[in-house]
Amino acid sequence: MNKVIGLFLATAMLGLAACDTGPKGSLGFSLPDGNAEKGKANYVSFQCHSCHDINQVAQLKEDGSAAVSIPLGGETTRIKSYGELVTSIINPSHKIVRRKSPGMTTELGESRMVVYNDVMTVTQLIDLVAFVQSSYVLAPYNPSHYPVYWVPETPKDN
Ligand code: HEC
Repeated sequence: MNKVIGLFLATAMLGLAACDTGPKGSLGFSLPDGNAEKGKANYVSFQCHSCHDINQVAQLKEDGSAAVSIPLGGETTRIKSYGELVTSIINPSHKIVRRKSPGMTTELGESRMVVYNDVMTVTQLIDLVAFVQSSYVLAPYNPSHYPVYWVPETPKDN
């Protein structure tokens, strides 16, 4: 392997490990089981459906169009962990960099998602996560098929 790439990978892996076990890591994070039915009611009362479309609750579109429409749930090859969902809800700007559409962020580059941290109880958050998570359906993963091929032996020059 190319030395530069090797060094890069090693640093990246160290970074990932540090992420999980450092003081700001997610190690030891565990939520009690939530109630998806109550979560659905919270979803409506917090008006999450003004910006999100999920299969169990249609998005609110008063005039037929909504400024923001982010689908939640549906088919996926990997169900989001509750760590990811909690982070999306209580720290919406955390992962925003991976989205390039400018309409999703404020001029300061922050998420347009409402921050509920001062109005939502922990129980409501747990139930919401259970509800959103229950609407993901695991789609079978289709691996790419590569034809088998043989590389002809190259004569050694020594
Ligand atoms: C004012 C609009 C708005 C409201 C209201 C809103 N969101 Fe969001 N939400 C967004 C936007 C925009 C994103 C995607 C970009 C980002 O990360 O900010 C997002 C992202 C998410 C994600 C991550 C989705 C993914 O695929 O990564 C989850 C989960 C989520 N929201 C849940 C909720 C829940 C639960 C509520 C209600 C308690 C809610 N949102 C209310 C705008 C909103």
